[in-house]
Amino acid sequence: MIVRHSRGEYPIHFRSAEAIWASLNPHDPIVTDQNVARHYADALGSLERVLVLPAGERTKNLTQFGRVLGWLAGVGAKRSTRVVALGGGVIGDLVGFAAASYMRGVPFLQIPTSLLAMVDSSVGGKVGIDLPAGKNLAGAFHAPSEVWISQDFLKTLPSRHHRNGAAEVWKAGYIHRPALLDALRKNPVRPMHPDLQWIIEESVEMKRQVVEADEFETNGLRATLNFGHTVGHAIERQLSYRRLLHGEAIAVGMVWEAKIGERLGVTPVGTAGQIAADMAQQGLPTAIPSDLDRRDLVLSMGGDKKATHSGLALSLLTGWGTCKLITGIDPAEVESILLSE
Ligand SMILES: NC(=O)c1ccc[n+]([C@@H]2O[C@H](COP(=O)([O-])OP(=O)(O)OC[C@H]3O[C@@H](n4cnc5c(N)ncnc54)[C@H](O)[C@@H]3O)[C@@H](O)[C@H]2O)c1
Repeated sequence: MIVRHSRGEYPIHFRSAEAIWASLNPHDPIVTDQNVARHYADALGSLERVLVLPAGERTKNLTQFGRVLGWLAGVGAKRSTRVVALGGGVIGDLVGFAAASYMRGVPFLQIPTSLLAMVDSSVGGKVGIDLPAGKNLAGAFHAPSEVWISQDFLKTLPSRHHRNGAAEVWKAGYIHRPALLDALRKNPVRPMHPDLQWIIEESVEMKRQVVEADEFETNGLRATLNFGHTVGHAIERQLSYRRLLHGEAIAVGMVWEAKIGERLGVTPVGTAGQIAADMAQQGLPTAIPSDLDRRDLVLSMGGDKKATHSGLALSLLTGWGTCKLITGIDPAEVESILLSE
């Protein structure tokens, strides 16, 4: 699969983990996290330059960003050096941003090891880190030079993180890929799913089509990837990024954005109920945590990047597999919907 962008193109290769280890250049600097390093210690042991960072979202910060840059300089990385990001979305985003900045940009290879990173974060060229003021506040568009995906890595991924990535697979189905929905309703995403390869490829293909058609988020198409994310991000912010993983918050967000869409007459009636049933079947949450103030949630949604002075902007389903960015939504109306149940 090839992803075309304004500065060129990059291939996405689907291969076995064994082939990935065999294809790696032992001299390439490779950055990973402690969990991945623990599971793949033998393979990593044969590589010369490996930086292991703490695992988790808190690593996506300025300190670790500086640490990666300093390490690249220390190992003598040059303009042509290819930096390898081996890990989930945290490592991909952080290392991608370091690659975008080091010597004003060096190539980087994404090897996603979590489901979320395979189907979402490794494709599209968005890289970045969190600031104390908010998530993903510093970043760049820096396309990888290649992406190598192997579902073999998922064998060691904890099941909660597997479900976390599954939320983005369902989202791909809801917004642009109805064939995925038919398959997932028969057999939800799970580690040894017989169609896992096809599920990953379909999700990646959906993202490829969207990012190629709207690389810099200027025509509204890329914004459709945010279905479930306006409510989901607000929940994550209100919970200070604790308790719920991103995909879990997005699962709740998709149910509620479908309810909002139904009330606004954009989304067919019955959609929210079906999504709630899908999420429950997948083992993902559907309810807004009871201790969150729903008025605060709407205020938080106003801080979303897509919101304007004329109101909230939400990516809403117009049917199974179709989605549209709706702007100028009155926050008072959203508040009344959130308070109605
Ligand atoms: N750039 C983008 O377009 C984009 C899109 C969506 C999400 N993101 C970002 O992605 C991040 C979330 O990604 P994530 O869910 O992969 O988080 P993550 O990188 O923290 O990985 C989740 C957990 O799984 C562990 N892990 C990863 N692969 C493993 C494996 N094969 N075996 C065992 N453990 C493994 C990690 O150590 C971590 O504990 C967020 O920071 C989010 O902002 C970016």
